[in-house]
Amino acid sequence: MSKPFFITTAIDYTNGAPHIGHAYEKVLADVLARYHRLKGDAENPQEVFYLTGVDQHGQKVQQSAEKAGLEPQAYVDGITAKFTALWEKLDVKYSAWAATTDPLHKECVRANLQKLWDDKDPATGESRWIYKKTQRGFYSVRQEQFLTDKERGPDGQFGPEWGVVEERDEENFYFRLTQDPTTGLPGCDPKQWLLDFIDKRTADGNPFVVPDFRVAELRNAVEKLEGDLCISRPASRLKWGIPFPESFGAGFVTYVWFDALVNYITYAPGHDPHYSERTAKQRSGEEGSGATSPAADAANNEPASSLRSFAPSRFNDFWPPLHVIGKDILIPAHGVYWPIMLKALGFTDEEMPTLLVHGWWNIAGAKMSKSLGNIVDPDLLADKYGPEALRYYLMSDITTGKDADFSEERLVQCYNADLANNLGNLLNRSLNMAAKYREAKVRAPSVSVLQNAEDPHRAFGNVVESWVRSYRSRVEMPPKSDSPIPQIIEPFMIHTALNDAMDIAIYCNALIQQRQPWTLAKAEKAGDANALQELDTVLYNLAESLRIIAILIWPVLPDAAHGIFDQLAWKLDEGGKDTRFRLADAVWGGLPDGHVLGRPVPLFPRIEAPAAEAK
Ligand code: MSP
Repeated sequence: MSKPFFITTAIDYTNGAPHIGHAYEKVLADVLARYHRLKGDAENPQEVFYLTGVDQHGQKVQQSAEKAGLEPQAYVDGITAKFTALWEKLDVKYSAWAATTDPLHKECVRANLQKLWDDKDPATGESRWIYKKTQRGFYSVRQEQFLTDKERGPDGQFGPEWGVVEERDEENFYFRLTQDPTTGLPGCDPKQWLLDFIDKRTADGNPFVVPDFRVAELRNAVEKLEGDLCISRPASRLKWGIPFPESFGAGFVTYVWFDALVNYITYAPGHDPHYSERTAKQRSGEEGSGATSPAADAANNEPASSLRSFAPSRFNDFWPPLHVIGKDILIPAHGVYWPIMLKALGFTDEEMPTLLVHGWWNIAGAKMSKSLGNIVDPDLLADKYGPEALRYYLMSDITTGKDADFSEERLVQCYNADLANNLGNLLNRSLNMAAKYREAKVRAPSVSVLQNAEDPHRAFGNVVESWVRSYRSRVEMPPKSDSPIPQIIEPFMIHTALNDAMDIAIYCNALIQQRQPWTLAKAEKAGDANALQELDTVLYNLAESLRIIAILIWPVLPDAAHGIFDQLAWKLDEGGKDTRFRLADAVWGGLPDGHVLGRPVPLFPRIEAPAAEAK
C-alpha cells in the first residue's frame, strides 16, 4: 500500500462570505486529493485525507460581529455555513472540517502551549520557547489596537481615523523564533536551523516550497528575521480568542497564528489529544494495555522525550501534509512560524510539510477588495454557469503559483471552446456515428494488436497514452532523482494536465475530419470491405479515447466524467461512485470487442448568454 496522501489548505477567515480566491484554493486542493484517489486501485489503495476549514477567532471577527449586532459565535456560525454550503455546491470533498471555535481544537491549542511552557531549560527553570515581556507602544483607543509606523501618515502623525492615540505598556507572551544571545535559549538557533532545513530540502530535490521561485523569496526573508513572535493578547482587549492555560496566569488569549496553525495537528488523522497522558499511564502500569503500547511507540520510533506525541501510528502514516496556501501567507506565517513551531514541538526535519504556494486571482490587474467593490462571488457564478464550468475555469486559466486575472467573459470562452466545442462535440458526434453506422457496437482490435506497440493499428493508442504520461508528470511531484540535471517540469500544473486531456479530444476531432466516417460508411455500403474495417478502427479510437479522457478529467470535472462513462455505457454498475475512475485504467484497449455504447445526450450545452461581469 502506498503512503497515504494528506493534503491541507489555509483555513479561511469568517469575517465575510467566501470569494473566488477561497474557492480557487479549495478546488485546487480538491483536485489534487481526487488525483490521488484516482491513483489507487483495489490492490494498492491510496488513502487520501483532505483537511480544510475556517479560522473563526480574532479582532476582525469580533468587530464584524459587533457591527452585525450578533454574538461572535452566532456570527461565525452564520458565515461558516456559507463556506460549507459553497463547498457542497462546488463538490469540494474534504475528509475533516477544521473550525477553530470547536472545543477539540481549543483543547489542542492549549495542550500545545502547555507542552512548550513545560519544556523547561534546566539552568534557568524557564520555558525554552515561551517567555513574557512588557512592551511600550502607541495604542488607538477607538480602534482598540496597537499601531506601528506603517499606520503613520506622510506627516509622521497618526491620522484622525485612529481617534485618541496614547502610549501604553502591554505585557504579552512571546514565542522564540531567534536564539537569545545572552541565555542561548531555546537551546538551538531556530533561524539557522530553518535556513539549513530549506537548503537541505532544495539540495535533496524535495523543496520545502513549490513553485521553485518562492524558495529564494522565503530564504531571503528568513535571513532578515529578527525578534520573536507575540502569541498573546490581553483578554481585556481581545475577547474572541482561546484563553491560555491557567499555568500562564490569568487574562491572556492566544493571538492569530498559535491558534490557526495548530488546526493541522488537531484535525490530522490519528491525532489523539490524550495520547501522551494515556501512554505515560500505561508505561507506569496504571492502566491495562490499550491499543497502543510503549513497544508500539518504539516500533514507531517515537522518542519518549518528544513533545510531538499524538497517537503516533496512524498520525505518522499520514503526516506530513502537502499544504496549499496563497502567496500572501507564506512569509512569515507558514514559511517561518509554522516550521519553527513544529520544530519546537519535536517534529523532525523529515516531518516538515511541503508548501504549495498558489498565486492570486485579481480583477483587471487590481486586488479584490471590499472597498473597491470588486469581490467576485463564486456562489453566484456556480448558480449561473454550473459548478463544473466554474471548477474548470479556475483550474484551466491560471498557472499554479502565478497570478491571473479573473474574467467572467474568459470563463464563458474557456467553457465554450474546450468543453462545449471540443470535448462535448466529440462525445456527441462519436456516439451518433457509432449508433448510425454500427448499431452503437464497437469492434476492438485483437489482443495481439493491442499488446504490440509497433502495430500500426495501435499507433493512435500510443499517442493517447503519451498524453496520459504527460498528464501524470504535470500533476505529480517528480520521483527523487540522483541526476545532477535539475527537474524542469514543475509539479501541480493542473492547467497543463487539463490541456493534455483536451489535446486528446482535439486529436480525435482531427481524426474525424481526416477519416470522415460518413464517407467510409458510404464506401462500405458500396461493398468496400477495407472501408468497414477502417470505420470500425476510427469508431473504436474515438470511444476508447473518450473513456480515457473521462478518467483524466475526473479530478476537475467529476460530474462530467460520470456523464461520459454513462454515455459510453461503461462501468454502469459503479455509476456515481468515485471508485469508477482509476488512473490504472487509462491504458489503451479497455473497451472490449462488441461493447455497446449508450445514447448521446448533450453534456456541455453552449453558453450563449452575453457575459456580464459577476460581482
Ligand atoms: N485565516 C488565514 C489563514 C490561516 S491558515 C492557518 C487567512 N485567511 S483568508 O481567508 O484571508 O485567506 C484564505 C486563503 O485564501 C489564503 O491562502 C489566501 O491566500 C487565499 N486567497 C485570498 N484571496 C485570494 C485571491 N484573490 N486569489 C487566490 N487566493 C486568495 O489568511
